[in-house]
Amino acid sequence: MELLKIQGLTKTIKKKKILDDISLTVRSGEIVGFLGPNGAGKTTTIKLIMGLFRITEGSISICGHDVVTDFEAAMANVGGIIENPDLYKRLTGRQNLEYFASMHNNVNKENIDDIIDLVKMSRRIDDKVKTYSLGMCQRVGIAQALLHNPRLLVLDEPTNGLDPIGIKELRDMLKYLVKEAGVGVFISSHLLSEMELMCDRIYIIDEGVIIGEKTIHESEETTEELIYEYTIHTDNNMKTLEYLNSLQANCKMENGGVSLIMRRSEMPNLIKNLVNQGIGIYAINQKHRTLEQDFISMTMGSKAQIR
Ligand SMILES: Nc1ncnc2c1ncn2[C@@H]1O[C@H](COP(=O)(O)OP(=O)(O)OP(=O)(O)O)[C@@H](O)[C@H]1O
Ligand SMILES: [Mg+2]
Repeated sequence: MELLKIQGLTKTIKKKKILDDISLTVRSGEIVGFLGPNGAGKTTTIKLIMGLFRITEGSISICGHDVVTDFEAAMANVGGIIENPDLYKRLTGRQNLEYFASMHNNVNKENIDDIIDLVKMSRRIDDKVKTYSLGMCQRVGIAQALLHNPRLLVLDEPTNGLDPIGIKELRDMLKYLVKEAGVGVFISSHLLSEMELMCDRIYIIDEGVIIGEKTIHESEETTEELIYEYTIHTDNNMKTLEYLNSLQANCKMENGGVSLIMRRSEMPNLIKNLVNQGIGIYAINQKHRTLEQDFISMTMGSKAQIR
C-alpha cells in the first residue's frame, strides 16, 4: 500500500524553481530516507506533504487522498515534525500531549498512555520539557505526531543535534514503530552514513531535483563495491603518495598521513603492493561515508584500478 505518492512535484517561489519534477513513494512498513545537502529542498518538500505550502505543479497523495482536493482525509493520515518539535517548555511532556490532543477532535485521550509507552518516555513524561534532553524532546515530538494515529510519519532532520547514542535510540525507536505500529516513515537528513543504518530506501535530492534512489542492502558484497575515504599512516608518506599518484588514484597528503578515495574491494591489493614496496604501514582508517563520497560512487567509473 502506498502511504505517500508524490508525482511531478514542482515548487516555484518568486520565479525560482525550488523543487523540479519530484516523484517518490513511501509504502507501509518502510523507512524511506530523503537525503540532501543544505538548501536541497527537503524542508520545502516536507512542508508541501504536510499541506503547509501551496503546490505549484504536480500532486501529493497520502493513503490515496490528494493533499489539495481531499485535504482533511490526507492530513488525518500523516503526522510530522518540521525542523524541531514544537513544545511548551514550561509544561510537562504529558501536558503538552494533552493540550495538543484537546485541539484535535480525532484524538482519543486513552491513547496517550499507549503512545508514551511506544516512544519509551513513561519514566520522564511528568517532568517539565525544559528539563528534557534533545533526544527526549524528539520522543515527545514523535508522540505528538502519532497522537491522531496516522499511518505515515514524516520527520525533517530529526537527528540534528543528537549525539551518537541519541541517534541510535531514535533509529531503534523508528524501526520499532514500523514493526509494532505498522507505520511508514519518511525521514530527511544530510548524513548518508546515518541514513544507511536507518532506511530501507533512500532518495537523494540536490538543488530541487531527485538525482538518485538507493535500496539499502545489508550484505557485505555490496559494501565491497562502495567507495570510501581512507587515511593511511606509513613510515614513508612521500613514497606512498608517489606510488598512489602513479596509479592516478584520488589522493593527497593530510593530517600526517595520506588520504585516499578508493573502492573498498581494491584496498587489499593496494595494501599488499605498498608493503611490497618496502613501505611500513602503521594504520589505515576508513571514514564514515558522506554524501559527497556517495556522489563520487555514483559518478565515478572504475578509475584508479590497482593492478
Ligand atoms: N519562503 C521561501 N522563500 C524563498 N526561498 C525559499 C523559501 N523557503 C525555502 N527557500 C529556498 O528553497 C531552497 C530549499 O530550501 P529548503 O529549506 O527546502 O532546503 P533543505 O534541504 O531543507 O535545507 P537544510 O538542510 O538547510 O534544512 C533554498 O534555496 C531556500 O533558500
Ligand atoms: Mg531543512
